[in-house]
Amino acid sequence: MILVTGGCGFIGSAFVLGWLNTSREPVVNLDLLTYAGHPGNLAAVAANEGYTFIRGDIGDSALVEQILTRHRPRAIINFAAESHVDRSISAPLAFAQTNVLGTLKLLETVHAWWRKLSPADASEFRFVHVSTDEVYGSLDPHDAGFTEQHRFQPNSPYSASKAASDHFVRAWHHTFGLPTLTTNCSNNYGPRQFPEKLIPLMIHNALRGKPLPVYGDGRQVRDWLHVDDHCAALNAVLERGRPGESYNIGGRSERTNLAVVDSICNALDALRPRKGGGSYIELLSHVKDRPGHDRRYAIDDSKIASELGWQPTVKFEQGIRATVQWYLDHEDWVESVTSGSYRQWVELHYKSAVPVA
Ligand code: NAD
Ligand code: TYD
Repeated sequence: MILVTGGCGFIGSAFVLGWLNTSREPVVNLDLLTYAGHPGNLAAVAANEGYTFIRGDIGDSALVEQILTRHRPRAIINFAAESHVDRSISAPLAFAQTNVLGTLKLLETVHAWWRKLSPADASEFRFVHVSTDEVYGSLDPHDAGFTEQHRFQPNSPYSASKAASDHFVRAWHHTFGLPTLTTNCSNNYGPRQFPEKLIPLMIHNALRGKPLPVYGDGRQVRDWLHVDDHCAALNAVLERGRPGESYNIGGRSERTNLAVVDSICNALDALRPRKGGGSYIELLSHVKDRPGHDRRYAIDDSKIASELGWQPTVKFEQGIRATVQWYLDHEDWVESVTSGSYRQWVELHYKSAVPVA
């Protein structure tokens, strides 16, 4: 069986759903259920006998030890993290707590258990750490995409905390021989993404007739990847990746934020025309820029493409339309996750996001 951490979040839930759809191998999901974790994301598999949910912290060594001893996973895929850059700017300590200390404690606990496995089981075991391209910092418009050799230059508290966790994961391989692999992926989109991130936030606001808050000039570039493509890449890394290595994953789909918002509005105009006419794009509002905002991320995916035969399959325009359709079909999901704490965050964060010319 495999142990997934953070499986109630956006990417972890897509991974667990995909896994149980295509494999009979059981999954245990350890998730703390922070504001970003929703057990409802896995409602479709909750009754599946191959699925076990445990609420808890990756930094709770006693609990993790119990899970390892009881379930004896052949692999761990570590999704658990604080994942939102803007929150890392207003409250960075939670990022150090989970992303740095939590990952470190998880590594220590897993290592102590792993060293007692038989040599065959120990060498088959895998620890896959799911990380971000943001550890590499920001690119200029004509720079080549990030390779795995690119220097780490994290610029936000979020990316600094992920970079630190990546270093610990690497160290546990080099110092202790734990078979770890790290993936550094670009921005994901798709169903069940919490509406604090760009794409679901814009859909959510547009449907409520609220301003679409674009930070600064909106010409920052991200490389967008559909979450199912990311999960396929993680499966390839789990099954065929070389321990001790890291793999960059990207969507071959660089877009400015303005272009992304435009695509969302086009999809909404077609799928749910605005009452009273006009386009949703009229709601676009430039607001104060994010402090330290990275200008551009781009991925050179030649390593994972040539070594593991993975490449993205979902075209952005098709993926964004399907994503918009998912949010239109799941307004109850949006309603249930945008509870009191969500409203407090939006109130606090966008209060200072005054429109700029
Ligand atoms: P998310 O915020 O949607 O979900 C995070 C999940 O982790 C939640 O279910 C939360 O309850 C759980 N969690 C948080 N702290 C925990 C702890 N201490 N112990 C156990 N569970 C805990 O995040 P996501 O977007 O699904 O991202 C998953 C991983 O992928 C993260 O490590 C993130 O850094 C990485 N990543 C995300 C993206 C992206 O675009 N979303 C891109 C590249 C990499
Ligand atoms: P986000 O989804 O937070 O991902 P990340 O910061 O990890 O790349 O943001 C994607 C881009 O969209 C980023 O350049 C910041 C920008 N953005 C806005 O312009 N307005 C918003 O309200 C949000 C949440 C993000």
